[in-house]
Amino acid sequence: MHYFQYKNDTLFCEDVPVSTVAEEVGTPFYLYSAATLTRHFAAFDLAFAGIPHLTCFAVKSCANIAILRLFANLGGGADIVSGGELFRAGAAGVDPKKIVYSGVGKTAEEIGAALKAGILMLNVESEQELAVIQKVAAGLGLKAPISFRVNPDVDPKTHAYISTGLAKNKFGIPIGEALRVYLAARELPNITIKGVSCHIGSQLTKVSPFVESLGKLKGFIAELAGQGIAITHLDLGGGLGIRYNDEEPPEPDEYARAINKELADLDCTLILEPGRVLVGNAGVLVTRVLYTKAGLKKFIIVDAGMNDLARPSLYDAFHLIQAVERHGLEREVADVVGPICETGDFLARDRPMPKVAAGDLLAVMSAGAYGFSMSSNYNSRPRVAEVLVHGEGFHLIRDRETNDILIQGEIIPEFLVS
Ligand code: LLP
Repeated sequence: MHYFQYKNDTLFCEDVPVSTVAEEVGTPFYLYSAATLTRHFAAFDLAFAGIPHLTCFAVKSCANIAILRLFANLGGGADIVSGGELFRAGAAGVDPKKIVYSGVGKTAEEIGAALKAGILMLNVESEQELAVIQKVAAGLGLKAPISFRVNPDVDPKTHAYISTGLAKNKFGIPIGEALRVYLAARELPNITIKGVSCHIGSQLTKVSPFVESLGKLKGFIAELAGQGIAITHLDLGGGLGIRYNDEEPPEPDEYARAINKELADLDCTLILEPGRVLVGNAGVLVTRVLYTKAGLKKFIIVDAGMNDLARPSLYDAFHLIQAVERHGLEREVADVVGPICETGDFLARDRPMPKVAAGDLLAVMSAGAYGFSMSSNYNSRPRVAEVLVHGEGFHLIRDRETNDILIQGEIIPEFLVS
């Protein structure tokens, strides 16, 4: 359930007409609904209310510090994957004791910054990384809280690019090797073993892969206990899917029920790292039609491109595109394309679209997750503004970039200056 609804054929975000925001900030822009974000967080978090747990929002899905603050105010933590995300979480006021840090390629510098910040735990993805953490922690005179990200070899049945829990994927430590690695970690003076973590993929539309991997992890935690290694935290990662088109993903409470059932006999704090399910349907990308072209095919050329929303080009992902002002039900099949100089620059292909003309506004729905956060300056296009609606008001939470920002940090070396 989200708060982007039509009232008399005009699209509103909560109580604000989307066109009003467009007039004020120009296009394109990302528009988020605070009520939807709050509702999604509550639905997810309350589903686990019966057990000790911590909901760590996956920063990569929507990294704006206003959004991070909103979740932090609701009691959420953060799942980070870089020093940059650590910095963002700090700037947003996320409690470091609620931050978990995953990723296969953490640098010594990033590890040091996380240890100094005092985060909850590092989810370690290789033995070599463990050695670096030991060294950095020793240098700082600290003990590093860790879990190992275990790869359970479970098929999440999602797009190959975002499947992470198969043995052939680069993530985590194969479950068959994990016991040996835990035993080795126990011997290291600057390491504290806290947990076991795993994340099998994103946009999962079935509960069964989660349950299957949880079953494997439980067996593994029992093995650890047999060796005298007690786990206080079990991190199940993110991955719960959303509805973009006709998918029927489980609701958070169905997902939570399945997990809670499996967890009944485990004595540890559950950590969850949801991203998409919290923000995906809480944000849209608003774009204006620049031109239309009719020939062999009909093209609707808009002012947002693949640099602003990469998902259609990258994963052939479907995003519903709606007219901000609805004029009748007539449809014509068209490609919705951006201004980028690539044929792969599309937001929709061969899609029955409402009849639109130059100047009309379109809303690309379900764009809150991996939308702005994956945007780039390709074709030297300034990144777009971000706006957060709160009831009847709306707030700019990121300025549209200027051309100056495009060349910030670039240098013409002396030898080229005549
Ligand atoms: N935890 C870890 C360790 C992750 O790698 C991810 C996402 C999450 C949590 C959050 O997963 P979520 O709940 O959002 O599914 N760019 C792709 C999605 C990449 C997901 C990467 N990892 C897309 O646009 O579909």
